[in-house]
Amino acid sequence: MARILVTGGAGYIGSTAASILVDRGHDVIVFDDLSTGHADSVDPRAEFFEGSLLDPDALRRALVGVSAVVHFAGKSLVGESVEKPDLYHHVNVDGTRNLIDAMKLFAIDRMVFSSSAATYGSPSTSPITEDIQGSPTNPYGQSKLDIDQMIGAVNLSAISLRYFNVAGAHLSPSGWLAERHDPETHLIPNVIKAMVENPLEIFGTDWQTPDGTCVRDYVHVVDLIDAHIKALNNLRHSKHEIINLGSGSGYSVKEVISSAQRVLGRDIPVVNAPRRAGDPATLVASVARAKSILDWQPTKSLDQMISDTQVALGLK
Ligand SMILES: NC(=O)c1ccc[n+]([C@@H]2O[C@H](COP(=O)([O-])OP(=O)(O)OC[C@H]3O[C@@H](n4cnc5c(N)ncnc54)[C@H](O)[C@@H]3O)[C@@H](O)[C@H]2O)c1
Repeated sequence: MARILVTGGAGYIGSTAASILVDRGHDVIVFDDLSTGHADSVDPRAEFFEGSLLDPDALRRALVGVSAVVHFAGKSLVGESVEKPDLYHHVNVDGTRNLIDAMKLFAIDRMVFSSSAATYGSPSTSPITEDIQGSPTNPYGQSKLDIDQMIGAVNLSAISLRYFNVAGAHLSPSGWLAERHDPETHLIPNVIKAMVENPLEIFGTDWQTPDGTCVRDYVHVVDLIDAHIKALNNLRHSKHEIINLGSGSGYSVKEVISSAQRVLGRDIPVVNAPRRAGDPATLVASVARAKSILDWQPTKSLDQMISDTQVALGLK
């Protein structure tokens, strides 16, 4: 049993990771400043340390006895990052530097990091392989690319996992863990909320895609955490790997809406809106590296992501 620090473990993905790591017998300490996370999402079987990546002293106290770090904490709203680029650099990049500096004090060198497809920008190739030159189109993606490069430059045994679009929910022993972002910018929870709240906005219907709406690659949060556990078991001494996590298949916004209408048995009201600046037309992962290095492939379908989110949000 290893003691693992989960930064951002009160957030959507980190809380699921903490809960599944406890299920697998690990001793988990969650480190989170609750800026976008929720104290009641922290698995009660984990230890909770409320603190910020911007507080080196808190990081040092939380790292006592830890053998590996799974680092989810950070700011992740693309639109907000365009308005506040310095904040995104400060929290994400400087905060991660503080974390790595504190790990070094305790000779902890094992890390799995939440990177993002936003590091790639709008590449012209599809599917996207990890070796393409990243050219982020917003400060959020730039901050993730800066962190990947920082991790590569220090002597860590680390894996950066570049998530595409994470969706779905996890039923933990203490209840459902689901997306509780405010504002919610992710398509699947917003499609479901559109049944009872405002119509769903479709940002652009004139993209160069088969039906004119943006195409994205979705991965279920439980599959995603399974890849993290495989990554923890595949860390190699002083080596940094970058690995995409997606399904390898793309779905347009209209295809997601039709799946949701079928799964939910309800009409989803929609309204057409202008394109959002910086949105690529298509983002689909090459998952060959995840398969070869981690022996990982996703098991859960888009329909499953939609139905789990619906149940978790209590909108049945
Ligand atoms: N959700 C996705 O589809 C997606 C895709 C790609 C990458 N990611 C990355 O995965 C990670 C988790 O995403 P999420 O959707 O769970 O986001 P989230 O906002 O739900 O979780 C982030 C957590 O980090 C905490 N946090 C933020 N700043 C902190 C700080 N300075 N110190 C300590 N804790 C801090 C927040 O309170 C929150 O609990 C993020 O790094 C995000 O960029 C997410």
